[in-house]
Amino acid sequence: MLKQNIKKAASIIKNGWVVAFPTETVYWLWANIYNKDAIMRIFEIKWRASDNPLIVHIDNIDKLTTLAIEIPKITYELAKKFWPGPLTIVFKKSDSVINEVSAWSDTVAIRIPNNSIAIELLKIANVPIAAPSANLSWKPSPTKASHVKDDLLNKVDYILDWWETIIWVESTVIDITVSPPILLRPWGVSLEELRELLPNIQLHPNLKWESQENIIKSPWMKYRHYAPDTNLFLFNPLTDDIELLIKKYKYLWNKIGVIATLETHDKYNNIDKVFLLWSRKKMTDISKNLFNILREVDKYWLDLVFCETFEEKWIGLAVMDRLKRACEKK
Ligand code: TXA
Ligand code: MG
Repeated sequence: MLKQNIKKAASIIKNGWVVAFPTETVYWLWANIYNKDAIMRIFEIKWRASDNPLIVHIDNIDKLTTLAIEIPKITYELAKKFWPGPLTIVFKKSDSVINEVSAWSDTVAIRIPNNSIAIELLKIANVPIAAPSANLSWKPSPTKASHVKDDLLNKVDYILDWWETIIWVESTVIDITVSPPILLRPWGVSLEELRELLPNIQLHPNLKWESQENIIKSPWMKYRHYAPDTNLFLFNPLTDDIELLIKKYKYLWNKIGVIATLETHDKYNNIDKVFLLWSRKKMTDISKNLFNILREVDKYWLDLVFCETFEEKWIGLAVMDRLKRACEKK
């Protein structure tokens, strides 16, 4: 059955249409990078801003040289350690990458996914594939076929509904065209792991929320992302008095929810709905549940949801980055 579905997906892609299916990170939308119409459709389907470039996916490192130029030596060490896998690397682009993919910049972001369906499809399609996450661009990334259907049903040509994604978070994006290299989007691979090969890697200033600098490097940072429709506020369960906060806000907002953890969820009284992210002792479980819970909160007609914060270390850095973006005002 799966084999038949993969074949069907491959023939749809070959005909230049757009297909959604799972990879190890999140569900994604596929288009052949040499087919401008398919690429333009991706932007239309997702309501994505045209100045936000797409990641290009390949099945084999040999294909790198057709897409990128001035490839730094460290690439091969990074690839040995992290590819196939959730690390996206920004390179100087070659002329074969059309402007619609790179958003008129002189760089291109590339990764090799670690998922057998994705690799099989890449091999059959035999072209590099530009693919963003398969969600409306301001919504949390999709980790289940049902999330794709909620956002994009009837807009894509085919959804390959196959189980769920494996790590349920997006790839980490780094730029190695600059010195020192910069971490643009934290996640699948942590900053601490990257430091083993890139000891001087810097966090992009926009990832340091206290930073006053407002340089925009990854276009993604400009846009509102991951936000539920429900108002979301963050609080630190160790230092903030949640009882007091709830009392205060009950006057303004009637139905209130809390996104909590196993260690804290039974402490919240007077709450209309408690969502469980899972145990603080296992941040990978917290991160796996995050996008799903951010989508769940809109199903309960709450006026306001409070969410606990986490320490910004390892995967906690990425979790907090997404939560802060999810709180941004519309
Ligand atoms: O896990 C993932 O990365 C998934 C799967 C499908 O690979 N893809 C994904 O794509 O999350 P998307 O389009 O949702 O996010 C791509 C990110 C955006 O933040 C975009 O701004 C950044 O990569 N990006 C793409 N090309 C870039 C470039 N040339 N320079 C800087 N940032 C770039
Ligand atoms: Mg996305």
